[in-house]
Amino acid sequence: MTEPVKFYDHKDEAEIVREWDSIAPIRDRQVALHQDTSYEQVLEPWILERVDRLAATKIVDVGCGTGRLTSKLHLRSGETLGIDPSAVSIGLARVRDDTTRFEVATAEEWVRRGSDLRFDLAVANMVLMDALDLEGIVGALATLARGGVVLATIAHPAFWPIYWDYASRDGFSYLAETVVETPFRTSSKSYGLVATHVHRPLELYLSTLRRHGLTVTAFEELRGPESVDAFPYPRFIGIEASVLP
Ligand SMILES: C[S@@+](CC[C@H](N)C(=O)[O-])C[C@H]1O[C@@H](n2cnc3c(N)ncnc32)[C@H](O)[C@@H]1O
Repeated sequence: MTEPVKFYDHKDEAEIVREWDSIAPIRDRQVALHQDTSYEQVLEPWILERVDRLAATKIVDVGCGTGRLTSKLHLRSGETLGIDPSAVSIGLARVRDDTTRFEVATAEEWVRRGSDLRFDLAVANMVLMDALDLEGIVGALATLARGGVVLATIAHPAFWPIYWDYASRDGFSYLAETVVETPFRTSSKSYGLVATHVHRPLELYLSTLRRHGLTVTAFEELRGPESVDAFPYPRFIGIEASVLP
């Protein structure tokens, strides 16, 4: 039976964090066992290829989850910080990697704390559509990477709703910001868990970046690893942006 996708007007930050806390051990195992082919074949290579070109010395990985990408970023820079509001995710990251610095915080909270705010590069892999407050997280990225570069990937808002089969459901409108809850499952197993993302039209991402002084220097629509027959549209977007000093 197909579990339903649900739309909400609002969810609390604490609820989202609980969801990520529950999902973290499973997600971490998927990545470790090379079962997340979108991450392994599309998203991570897109980020790392750019990181290698940028040669940043101080990197922050915003929404680092269990930190597997952060550890790879750390191999490429003098100093790396991974932040995520999910304490379970950060706990798993610290157990696996005791040389990279990991802290429990949203990007917005980290900026409010006010220490260690200057990075050459801020990475946010598949995070912006999972943040409840786009204005808040983009403002935080602009502060963290002032005068530097932001590298972000997001679910492609035009095609993700088709991929997840909610584009034509009642209650969905492409132009409306909508909190979307989907079942969390792997190809072989359903866990009774859910994951939440916020659908936003592309224009909202672009106008928010602009408002916070981020100039888009690269914008790529990325297909998933599946065949064109299985799903013909790009499911992800990779964005590189320079940040005003
Ligand atoms: C899809 S996961 C991506 C994790 C990781 N970047 C990766 O590549 O595996 C999204 C992550 O964003 C985090 N997140 C959500 N809102 C956030 C915010 N405002 N600031 C920082 N991280 C946030 C979640 O806790 C979750 O771990």
